[in-house]
Amino acid sequence: MLANIPAMQTVIEIKRPGGPEVLVPATRPVPEPKSGEVLIRIAAAGVNRADCLQRMGRYPMPPGAPDIPGLECSGTIVRLGEGVTQWREGDQVCALLIGDGYGEYAAAPAVQCLPVPDGVSLIDAGGLPETFCTVWTNVFDRIHLAAGEVFLQQGGSSGIGMTAIQLAKAFGATVLTTAGSDEKCQACREYGADLAINYRTQDFVQAAKEFTHGRGVDAIFDMVGGDYIPRELDLLAPEGRLCFVALMRGTRVEADFGLIQRKHLTVTGSTLRPRSIEQKAAIIAALREKVWPLFKAGKLRPFTYKQFPLTQAAEAHRLMESSQHIGKILLVT
Ligand SMILES: NC(=O)c1ccc[n+]([C@@H]2O[C@H](COP(=O)([O-])OP(=O)(O)OC[C@H]3O[C@@H](n4cnc5c(N)ncnc54)[C@H](OP(=O)(O)O)[C@@H]3O)[C@@H](O)[C@H]2O)c1
Repeated sequence: MLANIPAMQTVIEIKRPGGPEVLVPATRPVPEPKSGEVLIRIAAAGVNRADCLQRMGRYPMPPGAPDIPGLECSGTIVRLGEGVTQWREGDQVCALLIGDGYGEYAAAPAVQCLPVPDGVSLIDAGGLPETFCTVWTNVFDRIHLAAGEVFLQQGGSSGIGMTAIQLAKAFGATVLTTAGSDEKCQACREYGADLAINYRTQDFVQAAKEFTHGRGVDAIFDMVGGDYIPRELDLLAPEGRLCFVALMRGTRVEADFGLIQRKHLTVTGSTLRPRSIEQKAAIIAALREKVWPLFKAGKLRPFTYKQFPLTQAAEAHRLMESSQHIGKILLVT
């Protein structure tokens, strides 16, 4: 056994649905890894927008998901469940979780763990799994972004956005993005965007059409929805694809579906958290093979904006809800 594993740990509980103040430290047992799982002593956990919705009681929780928030973490494997052969105690990993990241220890399916990428610190790795899995399964598996295509990422300064900008660029696309301030646009350019549009001062459809000489874009990855939808259908080039992972500005809208028919468009979307362990394992395996080497090659880098101690999770949520951050917010133990 690698470490003295305590019986109890500090976690962050959601006392009741509400504002950031309902996130409070509590003491819970350290879990035993089940068959096929590893126990991770957590170094850092990524904060995701979904955690805020869960805290407010507005997230449709998948059956069996734990009540402690936290969809990803990094840390050291300290115990192996039955049948785990691909990891050893002492390995440093990052992991996609269905919950429980806001703690000192979490059990994760061994197949949902990845090594810490070369050149990335153990702490920064805690903010990688959720956005990289989400972007990979949507932008590459679902809407098949290809080298040479023009890609538009809405919300480029979000954790999802910074990941998508870098991945799309690394795989040879021309990358356009939108963000809510000039400072955010500058950061998006530093992470590889060819054009960053401040959507508060510019019309993104007009700016993207000018950039593409009227042709439009091949693929859009969106988390905004609402009144963006008819404008995105307008902006897509023939055979264009539109994919949603959130609809922060609303799910119901009037739009011209004739554009979908006339331009042969595809509109799709997905949610990561409720997928099976097997489906998540397939995404993790693809990342390990096709994406993780790009960190070593210098084509990808982490984008941690701010770290908070675990016990200050409420402060971390306040920052996320202010939308002032650029990239990832982490909780460190
Ligand atoms: N479906 C899935 O599987 C999946 C998985 C992961 C994440 N997501 C979703 O993807 C989104 C991004 O997640 P994240 O953790 O990367 O979040 P994040 O870092 O908090 O980024 C969200 C960004 O969206 C912009 N924004 C906030 N409220 C907005 C509004 N009402 N209208 C338009 N823009 C708004 C803000 O940037 P500006 O200042 O530039 O507006 C903000 O920084 C979230 O909605 C999350 O739930 C979905």
